[in-house]
Amino acid sequence: MSEKLQHGSAGGLILGIESSCDDSSAALLDIETLELKFHKKISQDAEHCAFGGVVPELAARLHTAALPKILEQIKPELPRVKAVAVTNEPGLSVSLVGGVAMAKALASSLRVPLIAVNHLAGHVYSLFLSQEARLPAGVLLVSGGHTMVLDIGAEGAVSVLAATMDDSFGESFDKVAKMLGLGYPGGVAVEKAAKSGCERFKFTVPLLGDARTAYSFSGLKNQVRVETEKLAESGNLGAQEIADICFAFENTACKHILNKLEKVFAQRKFERFGVVGGASANLNLRSSLKALCDKYGCELICAPLEFCSDNAAMIARAGREKYLRGEFAGLDLQASPRSELTRI
Ligand code: KG4
Ligand code: ZN
Repeated sequence: MSEKLQHGSAGGLILGIESSCDDSSAALLDIETLELKFHKKISQDAEHCAFGGVVPELAARLHTAALPKILEQIKPELPRVKAVAVTNEPGLSVSLVGGVAMAKALASSLRVPLIAVNHLAGHVYSLFLSQEARLPAGVLLVSGGHTMVLDIGAEGAVSVLAATMDDSFGESFDKVAKMLGLGYPGGVAVEKAAKSGCERFKFTVPLLGDARTAYSFSGLKNQVRVETEKLAESGNLGAQEIADICFAFENTACKHILNKLEKVFAQRKFERFGVVGGASANLNLRSSLKALCDKYGCELICAPLEFCSDNAAMIARAGREKYLRGEFAGLDLQASPRSELTRI
Protein backbone atom coordinates (compact mmCIF):
# COMPACT_ATOMS: atom_id res chain seq x y z
CA MET A 1 0.00 0.00 0.00
CA SER A 2 1.49 3.30 -0.99
CA GLU A 3 1.39 6.30 1.26
CA LYS A 4 -0.31 8.27 -1.53
CA LEU A 5 -3.80 9.33 -0.61
CA GLN A 6 -6.53 7.69 -2.68
CA HIS A 7 -9.67 9.76 -3.04
CA GLY A 8 -13.05 8.77 -4.35
CA SER A 9 -14.99 6.55 -1.94
CA ALA A 10 -18.14 7.95 -0.43
CA GLY A 11 -17.85 5.87 2.75
CA GLY A 12 -16.53 7.15 6.04
CA LEU A 13 -13.06 6.38 7.29
CA ILE A 14 -11.44 5.06 10.45
CA LEU A 15 -8.17 6.75 11.29
CA GLY A 16 -5.80 4.28 12.96
CA ILE A 17 -2.77 5.31 15.01
CA GLU A 18 -0.01 2.98 16.24
CA SER A 19 2.93 3.93 18.47
CA SER A 20 3.25 1.04 20.95
CA CYS A 21 6.97 0.42 20.45
CA ASP A 22 9.36 1.84 17.86
CA ASP A 23 7.15 2.34 14.79
CA SER A 24 5.08 5.50 14.27
CA SER A 25 2.21 4.76 11.95
CA ALA A 26 -1.16 6.07 10.78
CA ALA A 27 -3.72 4.60 8.40
CA LEU A 28 -7.09 5.44 6.88
CA LEU A 29 -9.47 2.54 6.30
CA ASP A 30 -12.83 2.73 4.53
CA ILE A 31 -15.44 1.47 6.99
CA GLU A 32 -17.69 -0.08 4.35
CA THR A 33 -15.31 -1.44 1.73
CA LEU A 34 -12.30 -2.12 4.00
CA GLU A 35 -10.16 -0.41 1.39
CA LEU A 36 -6.93 0.93 2.83
CA LYS A 37 -6.90 4.53 1.66
CA PHE A 38 -3.63 5.53 3.28
CA HIS A 39 -0.89 3.87 5.26
CA LYS A 40 2.41 5.25 6.39
CA LYS A 41 4.94 4.02 8.89
CA ILE A 42 8.10 5.70 10.09
CA SER A 43 10.42 3.10 11.59
CA GLN A 44 13.00 3.98 14.24
CA ASP A 45 15.25 0.96 13.55
CA ALA A 46 18.22 3.07 12.47
CA GLU A 47 18.10 5.22 15.62
CA HIS A 48 17.83 2.26 18.03
CA CYS A 49 20.35 0.09 16.16
CA ALA A 50 23.27 1.98 17.72
CA PHE A 51 22.02 0.87 21.17
CA GLY A 52 21.32 -2.76 20.20
CA GLY A 53 17.64 -2.47 21.18
CA VAL A 54 14.77 -0.06 21.74
CA VAL A 55 15.56 2.86 24.08
CA PRO A 56 12.12 3.89 25.45
CA GLU A 57 12.87 7.57 25.99
CA LEU A 58 14.32 7.91 22.49
CA ALA A 59 11.32 6.04 21.03
CA ALA A 60 8.91 8.44 22.76
CA ARG A 61 10.78 11.48 21.47
CA LEU A 62 10.83 10.14 17.90
CA HIS A 63 7.08 9.38 17.98
CA THR A 64 6.39 12.97 18.99
CA ALA A 65 8.23 14.17 15.89
CA ALA A 66 7.01 11.49 13.44
CA LEU A 67 3.26 11.27 14.16
CA PRO A 68 2.41 14.91 13.37
CA LYS A 69 4.48 14.62 10.17
CA ILE A 70 2.40 11.63 9.02
CA LEU A 71 -0.88 13.22 10.05
CA GLU A 72 -0.05 16.35 8.09
CA GLN A 73 -0.29 14.18 4.94
CA ILE A 74 -3.89 13.14 5.63
CA LYS A 75 -5.24 16.57 6.59
CA PRO A 76 -7.51 16.83 3.49
CA GLU A 77 -9.20 13.53 4.44
CA LEU A 78 -9.90 14.41 8.07
CA PRO A 79 -13.50 15.61 7.42
CA ARG A 80 -14.36 12.05 6.28
CA VAL A 81 -12.99 10.44 9.44
CA LYS A 82 -15.81 8.88 11.48
CA ALA A 83 -13.68 7.61 14.40
CA VAL A 84 -10.09 7.59 15.65
CA ALA A 85 -8.70 4.19 16.70
CA VAL A 86 -5.49 4.05 18.69
CA THR A 87 -3.35 1.36 20.31
CA ASN A 88 -3.57 1.97 24.05
CA GLU A 89 -2.19 -1.39 25.30
CA PRO A 90 0.11 -3.30 25.64
CA GLY A 91 3.48 -1.75 24.83
CA LEU A 92 6.04 0.72 26.09
CA SER A 93 4.16 3.25 28.25
CA VAL A 94 6.17 6.22 27.06
CA SER A 95 5.58 5.25 23.43
CA LEU A 96 1.86 4.49 23.82
CA VAL A 97 1.07 7.84 25.44
CA GLY A 98 2.25 9.75 22.35
CA GLY A 99 -0.26 8.01 20.09
CA VAL A 100 -3.03 8.11 22.67
CA ALA A 101 -2.60 11.85 23.28
CA MET A 102 -2.67 12.54 19.56
CA ALA A 103 -5.76 10.35 19.05
CA LYS A 104 -7.61 12.12 21.88
CA ALA A 105 -6.80 15.53 20.43
CA LEU A 106 -7.98 14.47 16.97
CA ALA A 107 -11.16 12.76 18.19
CA SER A 108 -12.02 15.79 20.26
CA SER A 109 -11.37 18.36 17.53
CA LEU A 110 -13.12 16.31 14.82
CA ARG A 111 -15.99 15.53 17.23
CA VAL A 112 -15.84 11.80 16.46
CA PRO A 113 -15.62 8.79 18.79
CA LEU A 114 -12.30 7.53 20.17
CA ILE A 115 -11.65 3.78 19.97
CA ALA A 116 -9.15 1.92 22.18
CA VAL A 117 -7.43 -0.94 20.36
CA ASN A 118 -5.44 -3.72 21.97
CA HIS A 119 -2.23 -4.12 19.98
CA LEU A 120 -2.53 -7.92 19.99
CA ALA A 121 -6.08 -7.72 18.62
CA GLY A 122 -4.62 -5.46 15.94
CA HIS A 123 -2.12 -8.16 14.97
CA VAL A 124 -4.95 -10.70 14.70
CA TYR A 125 -6.85 -8.37 12.35
CA SER A 126 -3.77 -8.15 10.10
CA LEU A 127 -5.12 -11.49 8.79
CA PHE A 128 -8.33 -9.81 7.66
CA LEU A 129 -7.20 -6.35 6.53
CA SER A 130 -9.37 -6.17 3.44
CA GLN A 131 -12.02 -8.78 4.22
CA GLU A 132 -14.51 -9.61 6.95
CA ALA A 133 -13.00 -11.67 9.78
CA ARG A 134 -13.20 -15.42 9.24
CA LEU A 135 -13.79 -16.87 12.68
CA PRO A 136 -13.45 -19.12 14.63
CA ALA A 137 -9.71 -19.54 14.17
CA GLY A 138 -6.58 -20.54 16.01
CA VAL A 139 -3.80 -17.94 15.89
CA LEU A 140 -0.08 -18.05 16.61
CA LEU A 141 1.11 -14.58 17.63
CA VAL A 142 4.88 -14.21 17.37
CA SER A 143 6.23 -10.71 17.92
CA GLY A 144 8.99 -8.99 19.83
CA GLY A 145 6.90 -8.85 22.98
CA HIS A 146 4.69 -11.94 22.73
CA THR A 147 4.56 -15.61 21.80
CA MET A 148 1.05 -16.96 22.20
CA VAL A 149 -1.33 -19.49 20.77
CA LEU A 150 -4.86 -18.08 20.79
CA ASP A 151 -8.20 -19.78 20.36
CA ILE A 152 -10.60 -17.21 18.90
CA GLY A 153 -14.30 -18.04 18.94
CA ALA A 154 -16.92 -17.19 16.32
CA GLU A 155 -17.87 -14.00 18.19
CA GLY A 156 -14.27 -12.97 18.84
CA ALA A 157 -13.85 -14.32 22.40
CA VAL A 158 -10.19 -15.15 23.02
CA SER A 159 -8.63 -17.82 25.18
CA VAL A 160 -4.89 -18.30 25.48
CA LEU A 161 -3.84 -21.90 24.81
CA ALA A 162 -0.08 -21.37 25.22
CA ALA A 163 2.33 -18.54 26.02
CA THR A 164 6.01 -18.03 26.66
CA MET A 165 7.43 -18.30 30.17
CA ASP A 166 10.36 -15.96 29.41
CA ASP A 167 11.64 -14.43 26.15
CA SER A 168 9.43 -14.22 23.09
CA PHE A 169 10.26 -15.85 19.74
CA GLY A 170 11.10 -12.50 18.08
CA GLU A 171 13.04 -11.26 21.10
CA SER A 172 15.23 -14.37 21.00
CA PHE A 173 16.12 -13.53 17.37
CA ASP A 174 16.98 -9.97 18.47
CA LYS A 175 19.21 -11.23 21.30
CA VAL A 176 20.98 -13.80 19.11
CA ALA A 177 21.58 -11.10 16.47
CA LYS A 178 23.06 -8.84 19.12
CA MET A 179 25.42 -11.61 20.34
CA LEU A 180 26.56 -12.26 16.78
CA GLY A 181 26.96 -8.56 15.93
CA LEU A 182 24.18 -8.63 13.33
CA GLY A 183 22.47 -5.43 14.52
CA TYR A 184 18.91 -4.55 15.53
CA PRO A 185 16.21 -5.63 14.84
CA GLY A 186 17.55 -9.14 14.66
CA GLY A 187 14.81 -11.21 13.05
CA VAL A 188 15.47 -10.30 9.45
CA ALA A 189 19.27 -10.36 9.94
CA VAL A 190 19.27 -13.83 11.55
CA GLU A 191 16.93 -15.22 8.89
CA LYS A 192 19.17 -13.78 6.14
CA ALA A 193 22.37 -15.19 7.72
CA ALA A 194 20.72 -18.60 8.25
CA LYS A 195 20.15 -18.85 4.48
CA SER A 196 23.88 -19.31 3.90
CA GLY A 197 24.32 -21.55 6.92
CA CYS A 198 24.44 -25.33 7.02
CA GLU A 199 23.96 -28.20 9.46
CA ARG A 200 26.90 -28.01 11.85
CA PHE A 201 25.79 -26.95 15.33
CA LYS A 202 23.15 -28.78 17.35
CA PHE A 203 21.00 -26.97 19.88
CA THR A 204 18.52 -28.75 22.14
CA VAL A 205 14.85 -28.03 21.45
CA PRO A 206 13.45 -26.42 24.64
CA LEU A 207 10.91 -28.27 26.84
CA LEU A 208 10.91 -31.28 24.52
CA GLY A 209 10.00 -33.88 27.14
CA ASP A 210 7.82 -31.44 29.09
CA ALA A 211 4.07 -32.09 28.97
CA ARG A 212 3.20 -28.39 29.34
CA THR A 213 2.04 -26.46 26.29
CA ALA A 214 4.29 -23.51 27.07
CA TYR A 215 7.21 -21.82 25.37
CA SER A 216 10.65 -20.87 26.64
CA PHE A 217 13.42 -19.32 24.57
CA SER A 218 15.91 -18.20 27.23
CA GLY A 219 17.67 -21.60 27.43
CA LEU A 220 18.09 -21.73 23.65
CA LYS A 221 19.49 -18.19 23.70
CA ASN A 222 22.03 -19.33 26.31
CA GLN A 223 23.05 -22.32 24.19
CA VAL A 224 23.80 -19.86 21.40
CA ARG A 225 25.74 -17.63 23.80
CA VAL A 226 27.94 -20.51 25.01
CA GLU A 227 28.73 -21.66 21.45
CA THR A 228 29.40 -18.09 20.29
CA GLU A 229 31.76 -17.35 23.18
CA LYS A 230 33.63 -20.62 22.63
CA LEU A 231 34.19 -19.79 18.97
CA ALA A 232 35.12 -16.18 19.70
CA GLU A 233 37.67 -17.17 22.37
CA SER A 234 39.37 -19.61 20.00
CA GLY A 235 39.41 -16.97 17.23
CA ASN A 236 37.11 -19.07 15.04
CA LEU A 237 33.98 -16.92 14.83
CA GLY A 238 33.91 -16.07 11.13
CA ALA A 239 31.04 -15.28 8.77
CA GLN A 240 30.39 -18.98 8.02
CA GLU A 241 30.26 -19.85 11.74
CA ILE A 242 27.78 -17.01 12.30
CA ALA A 243 25.64 -18.29 9.43
CA ASP A 244 25.80 -21.85 10.77
CA ILE A 245 24.79 -20.72 14.27
CA CYS A 246 21.86 -18.72 12.81
CA PHE A 247 20.83 -21.78 10.78
CA ALA A 248 20.82 -24.03 13.86
CA PHE A 249 19.16 -21.42 16.08
CA GLU A 250 16.37 -20.64 13.61
CA ASN A 251 15.64 -24.32 13.01
CA THR A 252 15.58 -25.09 16.73
CA ALA A 253 13.37 -22.09 17.57
CA CYS A 254 10.92 -23.10 14.81
CA LYS A 255 10.96 -26.74 15.96
CA HIS A 256 10.09 -25.55 19.48
CA ILE A 257 7.11 -23.57 18.17
CA LEU A 258 5.95 -26.54 16.09
CA ASN A 259 6.50 -29.15 18.79
CA LYS A 260 4.14 -27.39 21.22
CA LEU A 261 1.67 -26.49 18.49
CA GLU A 262 1.43 -30.15 17.54
CA LYS A 263 0.24 -30.82 21.11
CA VAL A 264 -2.39 -28.11 20.73
CA PHE A 265 -3.52 -29.44 17.34
CA ALA A 266 -3.79 -32.96 18.74
CA GLN A 267 -6.38 -31.71 21.25
CA ARG A 268 -8.17 -28.99 19.34
CA LYS A 269 -9.46 -29.15 15.77
CA PHE A 270 -9.08 -25.85 13.91
CA GLU A 271 -10.69 -25.21 10.56
CA ARG A 272 -8.25 -22.37 10.00
CA PHE A 273 -5.09 -21.25 11.72
CA GLY A 274 -3.42 -17.85 11.36
CA VAL A 275 0.08 -16.64 12.12
CA VAL A 276 0.64 -12.96 12.95
CA GLY A 277 3.19 -10.57 14.47
CA GLY A 278 6.53 -9.27 13.22
CA ALA A 279 8.20 -12.68 13.41
CA SER A 280 5.44 -14.29 11.32
CA ALA A 281 7.39 -12.97 8.32
CA ASN A 282 9.92 -15.75 8.97
CA LEU A 283 9.71 -18.11 6.00
CA ASN A 284 11.11 -21.13 7.85
CA LEU A 285 8.33 -20.73 10.42
CA ARG A 286 5.70 -20.25 7.72
CA SER A 287 6.71 -23.38 5.82
CA SER A 288 6.79 -25.48 9.02
CA LEU A 289 3.31 -24.20 9.92
CA LYS A 290 2.06 -24.99 6.43
CA ALA A 291 3.23 -28.60 6.82
CA LEU A 292 1.53 -28.85 10.24
CA CYS A 293 -1.73 -27.38 8.94
CA ASP A 294 -1.69 -29.69 5.92
CA LYS A 295 -1.19 -32.68 8.24
CA TYR A 296 -4.23 -31.68 10.32
CA GLY A 297 -6.39 -30.62 7.35
CA CYS A 298 -6.53 -27.01 8.41
CA GLU A 299 -6.17 -23.84 6.32
CA LEU A 300 -3.12 -21.68 7.12
CA ILE A 301 -3.74 -17.94 6.89
CA CYS A 302 -0.94 -15.37 6.96
CA ALA A 303 -0.90 -11.59 6.98
CA PRO A 304 0.67 -9.90 3.93
CA LEU A 305 4.44 -9.60 4.62
CA GLU A 306 4.18 -5.79 4.64
CA PHE A 307 1.69 -5.92 7.54
CA CYS A 308 3.32 -8.53 9.81
CA SER A 309 5.31 -6.00 11.84
CA ASP A 310 3.64 -3.18 13.75
CA ASN A 311 1.44 -0.96 11.59
CA ALA A 312 -1.59 1.29 11.88
CA ALA A 313 -3.58 -0.49 9.16
CA MET A 314 -4.23 -3.41 11.52
CA ILE A 315 -5.21 -0.94 14.28
CA ALA A 316 -7.70 0.81 12.00
CA ARG A 317 -9.04 -2.62 10.97
CA ALA A 318 -9.51 -3.77 14.58
CA GLY A 319 -10.98 -0.36 15.40
CA ARG A 320 -13.54 -0.74 12.61
CA GLU A 321 -15.05 -3.78 14.40
CA LYS A 322 -15.37 -1.81 17.62
CA TYR A 323 -16.87 1.08 15.63
CA LEU A 324 -19.57 -1.22 14.25
CA ARG A 325 -20.25 -2.53 17.77
CA GLY A 326 -20.35 1.01 19.18
CA GLU A 327 -17.54 0.31 21.65
CA PHE A 328 -16.06 3.73 22.25
CA ALA A 329 -13.57 5.05 24.79
CA GLY A 330 -13.77 8.24 26.81
CA LEU A 331 -11.31 11.08 26.44
CA ASP A 332 -9.84 9.95 29.77
CA LEU A 333 -8.45 6.82 27.99
CA GLN A 334 -5.18 5.68 29.54
CA ALA A 335 -2.22 3.86 28.02
CA SER A 336 -1.28 0.61 29.70
CA PRO A 337 1.97 -1.39 29.30
CA ARG A 338 0.20 -4.69 29.99
CA SER A 339 -3.11 -6.17 28.95
CA GLU A 340 -5.27 -9.22 28.99
CA LEU A 341 -6.75 -10.03 25.61
CA THR A 342 -10.23 -11.46 26.09
CA ARG A 343 -11.93 -10.35 22.90
CA ILE A 344 -10.82 -9.09 19.51
O1 KG4 B 1 5.11 -7.32 15.88
P1 KG4 B 1 6.41 -6.59 15.91
O2 KG4 B 1 6.71 -5.65 14.77
O3 KG4 B 1 6.58 -5.78 17.23
C1 KG4 B 1 6.06 -6.20 18.46
O4 KG4 B 1 4.82 -6.11 18.64
O5 KG4 B 1 6.88 -6.67 19.27
O6 KG4 B 1 7.54 -7.71 15.99
C2 KG4 B 1 8.89 -7.36 15.99
C3 KG4 B 1 9.70 -8.63 16.22
C4 KG4 B 1 11.19 -8.36 16.46
O7 KG4 B 1 11.59 -9.10 17.58
C5 KG4 B 1 11.83 -8.84 15.18
O8 KG4 B 1 13.17 -9.29 15.35
C6 KG4 B 1 10.91 -9.99 14.81
O9 KG4 B 1 9.62 -9.49 15.08
N1 KG4 B 1 11.04 -10.35 13.39
C7 KG4 B 1 11.46 -11.56 12.96
C8 KG4 B 1 11.48 -11.49 11.54
N2 KG4 B 1 11.07 -10.24 11.17
C9 KG4 B 1 10.80 -9.56 12.33
N3 KG4 B 1 11.80 -12.66 13.63
C10 KG4 B 1 12.18 -13.75 12.90
N4 KG4 B 1 12.25 -13.76 11.55
C11 KG4 B 1 11.91 -12.66 10.83
N5 KG4 B 1 11.96 -12.66 9.51
ZN1 ZN C 1 3.41 -5.85 17.48
